[in-house]
Amino acid sequence: MCGIFAYINYLEPKTRKEILQFLISGLQRLEYRGYDSAGIAFDNAEGKTEIIRQSGKVKVLENEIWSRDDLSVDQSLDIHVAIAHTRWATHGAPSPINSHPQRSDEKQEFVVIHNGIVTNYKDIKQFLTKKGLTFESETDTEIIAKLIKHIHDNHPDLTFRELVEQVALQLEGAFALVFKSILYPGQCVATRRGSPLLVGIKTKSSLSSDHIPVLFSSKDLKRQKDITPTGLIGTKIQRSDSTTEFTPLSDHAEVEYFYASDASAFIEHTNRVIFLEDDDVAAIEDGRLTIHRVRRDFDDKSPLTREIITLKLEIQAIMKGNFSSFMQKEIFEQPESVFNTMRGRVNFENETVILGGIKDYIPEIKRCRRLILIGCGTSYHSAIATRTILEELTELPVMVELASDFLDNERPIYRDDVCFFISQSGETADTLMALKYCKQRGALIVGITNTVGSSICRESHCGVHVNAGPEIGVASTKAYTSQFISLVMFALVLSEDRISMRPRRTEIIQGLKMLPDQINSVLKLDDQVKAIAEELYTKGSIMIMGRGYNHATCLEGALKIKELTYIPSEGVLAGELKHGPLALVDEAMPVIMIVTRDKVYTKCMNAVQQVTARGGRPIVICEENDNETPTMAYKHLKIPHVVDCLQGILTVIPLQLLSYHIAVLRGCNVDCPRNLAKSVTTE
Ligand code: M6R
Repeated sequence: MCGIFAYINYLEPKTRKEILQFLISGLQRLEYRGYDSAGIAFDNAEGKTEIIRQSGKVKVLENEIWSRDDLSVDQSLDIHVAIAHTRWATHGAPSPINSHPQRSDEKQEFVVIHNGIVTNYKDIKQFLTKKGLTFESETDTEIIAKLIKHIHDNHPDLTFRELVEQVALQLEGAFALVFKSILYPGQCVATRRGSPLLVGIKTKSSLSSDHIPVLFSSKDLKRQKDITPTGLIGTKIQRSDSTTEFTPLSDHAEVEYFYASDASAFIEHTNRVIFLEDDDVAAIEDGRLTIHRVRRDFDDKSPLTREIITLKLEIQAIMKGNFSSFMQKEIFEQPESVFNTMRGRVNFENETVILGGIKDYIPEIKRCRRLILIGCGTSYHSAIATRTILEELTELPVMVELASDFLDNERPIYRDDVCFFISQSGETADTLMALKYCKQRGALIVGITNTVGSSICRESHCGVHVNAGPEIGVASTKAYTSQFISLVMFALVLSEDRISMRPRRTEIIQGLKMLPDQINSVLKLDDQVKAIAEELYTKGSIMIMGRGYNHATCLEGALKIKELTYIPSEGVLAGELKHGPLALVDEAMPVIMIVTRDKVYTKCMNAVQQVTARGGRPIVICEENDNETPTMAYKHLKIPHVVDCLQGILTVIPLQLLSYHIAVLRGCNVDCPRNLAKSVTTE
């Protein structure tokens, strides 16, 4: 959803052109999140704030920026604050006036960019309207810009940071905010609650890799009461007498900062980040960063000490390389991404599995009443895909819930429940809310996420990082197969001491070992899949049918087709065929059927017969050793054989490829389907 990017340089001269280029490339990196308009605010040559906003793609905004000849782009600036935003419309249609930055007034004294939704904006708008203020946009964000100015006008003695704290105290809902003001030149203040926000830090000299990089306060350094506590970047070591020694960087003066919704926006500049927590207020002033808490005791005004994380994210990981889209790249990365999910965890020789992130909690998990798997969209499908093997290997009841539905119905949760929250982004609002609901009721919270430092990671008691690498395409592909494997690995961990399950565990672990090669074989079907896409791309709907371990593949395949191609598509449990969906079948209805040689094979073949008996022409995904099914199919795709509970990893890949090819043939935007966002941070 909306994307935030801000760039602040201090005594590290940059021309305005360079700054504008940073903003544009930052916004381009955030495009994958989904948006429909974009905007920037920066200091112009007169020392005022210049706002440029456009509906549509970042490219449109970029063209507008470079078409302007009044921006003094060659002027060099020692200190500068610039903010930028991609907006995914919630309140008011995409238009320049509804785009961010939103401004406080015509002089643009305060400008703000916002990710999230302010739920009490109507009350605040009413309050401000009564004070005589008028509004130019339909957004919830404009009230924030107006509110900060209103507080400033009534309390001119407050610092910029204190103003932002006061604003944050008034807001309800989810938000990440970055403010800029001509009244506080060189300062940039940000806060968050419920929506992600990171600070990127780039210093001239590098931080020692032997010590822990930290942001700390000069109070920590001197331990003197009379010193103004300001932010310092440096390192810390813990001494044996349990005191801590802080060492600031020697030339701390020249520094660049970034704020962003995710690290991909600034990873080409720095990999040193601080993940802001809910109710943090991060203030940059005179090149110093300090972090305070919104609701902190008013007597304690000292800033907090925070660890600076060094991300392993490489710039190549967020580039398309030779692929035409991120989605295509991510589909083809799966041999590697599933390997990375298992790396260092599955020992194929002695058939053991270790998940470091949950190992201390295993005894508690084994004593639990039930496992509850919760997620949305594709992440929810990974739960459906693995439910049966989890039940079999853990011998625990397993429930699978859609996060939004779970919250609507306020499902009962007990202290002895173990709740899994599955999320690629780790920021999905519904999943996060469901997590908080379960945590309040005392359940053990296990996060299964792909984003280090995400809200779900931080809110969980323990978890598994799926290690699929950055997923940029809005359609989830490699995250699904890695979530799937993570949950299977969890089932293997829980069954480790069951002698009766040894043969089953062996076939699964050996199956996992073969997966990267087998995925490579499935990817070689790409041309055949493309030929099928050429037949299907003009159709009005597509049915995908299967049962048992392949039911989740049908749901996931149908989701991929509808979100990427806009063709209505239904994933049907073949056992339900006679209870309704069979009425849809005729010679014109495209039907894809998944038939693998497991315990439901005969039942699947019955379904194929029922379809062909109604004139249907099924396109079948079946196994290489199966010579019978292809004789009944209109077309077929053969995939390698793997143990039943892992089939879903191989059967989903032809459907990922199919949705990709149909989307290309229909001229759809593969990486950013209409109306959708990568990270759904609002309910
Ligand atoms: O980041 P999450 O895994 O929590 O996202 C959940 C869904 O929004 C996501 O899987 C969505 O369904 C995908 N766009 C499907 O491809």
